[in-house]
Amino acid sequence: MRAIVCGTWGGPEQLTLTEFPEPVPKSDEVKIDVHACSVNFADLLMIGGTYQTRPALPFVPGLEAAGTIASAPEGSGFQPGDRVVAILWHGGYAEQAVASARETFLLPAGVSFDVGAALTSAYVSTALALTRVAHLKPSEVLLVLGASGGVGLAAVQLGKALGATVIAVASTPDKLAVARAAGADHVISHADANWKEQVLAVAGSSGVSVCFDPVGGPLFDPALSTLGWGGRYVLVGFAAGQAPNIPAHRLLVKHRAVLGSSLRYFRYHDPAALRETMDQLFSWYAQGRITPRITLRLPLDQTADGLRTLAERRAIGKVVIHVREGRDAPPGVT
Ligand SMILES: NC(=O)c1ccc[n+]([C@@H]2O[C@H](COP(=O)([O-])OP(=O)(O)OC[C@H]3O[C@@H](n4cnc5c(N)ncnc54)[C@H](OP(=O)(O)O)[C@@H]3O)[C@@H](O)[C@H]2O)c1
Repeated sequence: MRAIVCGTWGGPEQLTLTEFPEPVPKSDEVKIDVHACSVNFADLLMIGGTYQTRPALPFVPGLEAAGTIASAPEGSGFQPGDRVVAILWHGGYAEQAVASARETFLLPAGVSFDVGAALTSAYVSTALALTRVAHLKPSEVLLVLGASGGVGLAAVQLGKALGATVIAVASTPDKLAVARAAGADHVISHADANWKEQVLAVAGSSGVSVCFDPVGGPLFDPALSTLGWGGRYVLVGFAAGQAPNIPAHRLLVKHRAVLGSSLRYFRYHDPAALRETMDQLFSWYAQGRITPRITLRLPLDQTADGLRTLAERRAIGKVVIHVREGRDAPPGVT
């Protein structure tokens, strides 16, 4: 099969499009003919060898697979030809991938492979962080950092779907416009020296209830200061490259909490949450309450370009790779 292969730790430039052995499913796994896989920041960490886990080299990156079932174990509930999306450890940038049957979900009619791929890692991890870690409630105030990125834009939409007032923070006017169009009630540029004061001004007297942070670095400290009484700060990632040190004294008097949330570890510790969350996402998508914004679609041989848009901070919303474009699927088939 054709696959994007990481043969040495490094950046997108070291990835190669090559023939690679087809993956062999274990007894509890399905095999998927992959049509679409979205680009995630974690791909950059994984190919750089700095992710939480390091696959053995060489490996195929890519954290989800939207496509059709090629084979499935008996009793799994899947049949060859079923349209599905699956959460992967890695392996999505290839014509075939294997996935645990319990992390594979039927795509409802009307959900394209593109949308399935865009919804999976980004929206599932964001929904888990907001609902099961932060316990965001309707009428609370949600502050979203990195609000035009993959998980950030998902947080803006999910925050609105959950009934919160959403304050979106991003770097540039075009990114802020996208967050506004996705439903953010307030948009603020962290390029402004007084961005923290601007957040406090629009959050109201109770301050921010929940901060969703996939960025870390220099944004952490001011964002923590905006949390009001009982505020929850959810660390999702460190796209700025630096994990913050948590000043414990600033948690105590306001009963603030700093929490971590990881899709990967939900998979180990609360797998039932994945299916419930996926069902919720499909339902909200059908109701028009969330709509992944796919800003770039690329064929498999341009996967490295897709990854570069994230590394260079140019990506807005989701970038999706059309794995079979130009092979057995015509352009735009997803
Ligand atoms: N815990 C989980 O389960 C989970 C799941 C998915 C993703 N994540 C993590 O969440 C983070 C974001 O992932 P993503 O896929 O949403 O990435 P993304 O689409 O590239 O968005 C990242 C955002 O971070 C901001 N940023 C600040 N400094 C940056 C830098 N030096 N390089 C790149 N971006 C920078 C950018 O916003 P501005 O330009 O507006 O500042 C950008 O929009 C990553 O750390 C990823 O590993 C975690």
